Amino acid sequence: MSGELIRLGLAGLGTVGTGLAKILASNADWIQRRLGRQVVIKSALVRDPTKVRDLPSRMNIALATSMDDLLQDPELDIIVELMGGLDAPYRLISAALARGKAVVTANKALLAERGNELFSLAAKHGAALYYEASVAGGIPIVQVLKESLAGNRIKALTGILNGTANYILTEMTDRGLDFQTALGQAQAKGYAEADPTLDIQGMDAAHKLVLLIRLAYGEDYPLSELPVQGISHVDPQDIIFADQFGFRVKLIAQVRHSQGGLDAGVFTALVRQEHILGKVDGPFNAVLVEGDAVGPLMLYGQGAGDLPTGSAVLADIMALARAGCSPNNTGFPEIVLPPAAILSPDHVRSRHYFRFTVLDRPGVLAVIAGVFGQRNISIAQMVQKGSSSGRNVPVVFITHSAQARDVTAAVREIDTQSFITAPSVHYRIL
Ligand SMILES: NC(=O)c1ccc[n+]([C@@H]2O[C@H](COP(=O)([O-])OP(=O)(O)OC[C@H]3O[C@@H](n4cnc5c(N)ncnc54)[C@H](OP(=O)(O)O)[C@@H]3O)[C@@H](O)[C@H]2O)c1
Repeated sequence: MSGELIRLGLAGLGTVGTGLAKILASNADWIQRRLGRQVVIKSALVRDPTKVRDLPSRMNIALATSMDDLLQDPELDIIVELMGGLDAPYRLISAALARGKAVVTANKALLAERGNELFSLAAKHGAALYYEASVAGGIPIVQVLKESLAGNRIKALTGILNGTANYILTEMTDRGLDFQTALGQAQAKGYAEADPTLDIQGMDAAHKLVLLIRLAYGEDYPLSELPVQGISHVDPQDIIFADQFGFRVKLIAQVRHSQGGLDAGVFTALVRQEHILGKVDGPFNAVLVEGDAVGPLMLYGQGAGDLPTGSAVLADIMALARAGCSPNNTGFPEIVLPPAAILSPDHVRSRHYFRFTVLDRPGVLAVIAGVFGQRNISIAQMVQKGSSSGRNVPVVFITHSAQARDVTAAVREIDTQSFITAPSVHYRIL
């Protein structure tokens, strides 16, 4: 990377690839001023070279349809993988790293599934594997954890990491939509993919969380062991009850260092309306980090989109252009990060929201309160809606902090009672 130009081999010229091309064109002078060199896309790998593309005029990019065109070009300084998917990008990235070539990727799914292999390969060949755009789009959280907060012990990291889910929950809250209508609206506005499964089932946020855990704690938390809950089950009546108690419903990705281990997961939670994360609405993302020295620190911004994500990809390209050949991929010197010390979910403590659907008859509250009492769950607030028909009324409780094991046992016991007429609902409170 020593010439006048930084030459990129771009794999993928879709949303993010085109966004990167647009920033390189519009900010070319500024990038040259900062680096002392120009950054150019020399060639781009696509599936369909005949497709009409919204590229900046005067940008001369050679289209390629074979990975080998990129891998065998000695002039390329950096391979930028923006294809998405798992197998093809794995083949490209591993082949590039094995040749000692620097790689930039936005592919969180691949790094969450096979990051161990790819980071080991990169370390073995002294090659860079940078991935700022893979977590929270335009928000520069990877660099912040790797460099800016490197001297802090991270006590906790809490994020709203999926813009689609956050948009859907915001529309359900502010406009009273049901889940399916809000999802359809997210798709119509281009916030949700045609197949939104990864977003609404929490897996996209889970991919990002395991990457953040590596960066914050230097430990490998297997994706398969991460508790993950999505939002498709969220019932509008819980959003209304949450609002009455002063909360908003959010899809939260969180890791906390507690009792010598990591308590991590993706879950639907109630967040106080005045909490800084309670105010993150629509398609926006945010990450709240609590370092032992820096204290609380929050990053907020656009978690997706062509220009915000392209901005993060370009940050990696410019960092590599400056760093030359001394990559800092994981932020830790080990070739393979140790396995995470995972705190059993049973021991996790938090406040809870419960909604039970019950027959409206005397004695019901006393039974529920009794079960809670036996399990050390202390009630902070309660609402019961009466019913003229005497059937199927919701009873809602907000509790003080309780252990997950006790909560699970209490729900199991209450659900066996004859007065329960529908499965109970319970969420953590942040
Ligand atoms: N979109 C976002 O806002 C966003 C935000 C953060 C991270 N990301 C990540 O960024 C990556 C790219 O996302 P995107 O939204 O830009 O995707 P996209 O719009 O679907 O674009 C994918 C591009 O890759 C090309 N491609 C896909 N598979 C290929 C293959 N096997 N061989 C050759 N070319 C192939 C496609 O070619 P054709 O154009 O010919 O079809 C297209 O140009 C993904 O990993 C995604 O998770 C995206």
